[in-house]
Amino acid sequence: MATVVLSGASAAIPALQISLDLLRHELRRRGDADVRVFDLASTPLGYCQGEFDCWVKTPGLCRAHDAEQDIVQAVHDADRHVTVDAVTFGGYSYTVKRAIDRLICLISPFFEKRMSLTHHEPRYERAASWHALGWQPAPDPSIADTWAALADANALNLLAPHVGATVLDDTSRDAWPRAIGDMLGSDAVPGGTIVDRAALREAMRAAAIGADVGNGHPPRSVALLVGSAKARGTSLSENLAAAMRERFERAGATVQTSFAVDFLRDDRARQTAQAVAAADLFVLVTPLYIDAIPALPTRALTLIAEARRTHTTPARCAALINCGFPEPEHTRTALAIVRHFSTAARYTWAGGLPLGGGGAVRPDVPLDQQHGPAEHVHAALDLAVGNLMAGQSLSREAIEQMARSPMPDVLYRLAGDLGWRYQVYKNRLAQADLRARPLD
Ligand SMILES: Cc1cc2nc3c(=O)[nH]c(=O)nc-3n(C[C@H](O)[C@H](O)[C@H](O)COP(=O)(O)O)c2cc1C
Repeated sequence: MATVVLSGASAAIPALQISLDLLRHELRRRGDADVRVFDLASTPLGYCQGEFDCWVKTPGLCRAHDAEQDIVQAVHDADRHVTVDAVTFGGYSYTVKRAIDRLICLISPFFEKRMSLTHHEPRYERAASWHALGWQPAPDPSIADTWAALADANALNLLAPHVGATVLDDTSRDAWPRAIGDMLGSDAVPGGTIVDRAALREAMRAAAIGADVGNGHPPRSVALLVGSAKARGTSLSENLAAAMRERFERAGATVQTSFAVDFLRDDRARQTAQAVAAADLFVLVTPLYIDAIPALPTRALTLIAEARRTHTTPARCAALINCGFPEPEHTRTALAIVRHFSTAARYTWAGGLPLGGGGAVRPDVPLDQQHGPAEHVHAALDLAVGNLMAGQSLSREAIEQMARSPMPDVLYRLAGDLGWRYQVYKNRLAQADLRARPLD
């Protein structure tokens, strides 16, 4: 059985190196000799820029030429895929998420419904099973639940036949070999615990609702962070952040907008993180990448959490997460991740806004000039900014308004599929290229 390990282990996190050694030992014990480990901590790797070229320009291949080409080929060839990572707010670290975001070339852009929600069709005949081995210093069942939920959503999204997840912590080292064995041996079917869409909606609401703070202090300063990796001026997140900014400024707040790429260069990153950490209210406006926040904002949140350690004044954190599938329920795990970040960074969680069907809102026309599928977004932002400027958490009404579906999901899927077809036509490719299998 061929196994690929995407490892975030490094000398800086000895516990992860021990976990990786135990994993190798367990694989040997099972007689699995074909093991390839990618040491991501020491591998220069670009981040996904969110332009979907790997679907509509070079179908099945990322346009960036770096180690990810080997990684994607290895995951394609493998029977089993394992990530070894330091659990970061319930999700992957920046180091590992960079590699995971770029796996979307392994699936097809076409939509289909699986386990109550829209997903993508397979590109290849088979996929590796998905296993997630996480480590955190101290036990935190709620974070461990998010890690397991993320592994399950990823496995479903990437069409893995089986899924297994575990979180190790330093209070129970004796139990690590057993936990690793169970994670590897798991034959759980991805999405097997999904009852129906209503249950997913409940999980989304639970993650989205903020702390009950009553009427607090109106924020004087607001820091908006655009999490999209797309070029400046082309992302929906940037457009949404601009519409939020206008509302906050009209209500009298001072607003600074930063971009997740600002956190890449070490010199600028710490300065930007400090500026964000000093604001009364922090709002992350981001797309969803593989069921979680993308690699770039993961790095930004890690640095902001570090910067918050030196701030003693109370501040609040909220989020707006938009996703490409029509159902806002897809954002539930990412909302939980931002909520865990909020706790780690000593913010009060003011709640999250889930926006499904991001493809129906234009990134290039100011939001307030758009009608139809954008109208519920205006209304939700009016309510949300009103709540936040009154010192409150987001109201249920604001969250539900953002989560409304402006069109039937089936229509969205149809329009989306036609959209991919039009893009390959514009790129002078044949329609059949959309289903290319360059790695077979
Ligand atoms: C690498 C990658 C992974 C994605 N994964 C998901 C996903 O798991 N679920 C989903 O609904 N949308 C997913 N999307 C779609 C984006 O969330 C969607 O296109 C979003 O509207 C982009 O927002 P932006 O313009 O602000 O970047 C993904 C997009 C990319 C590029």
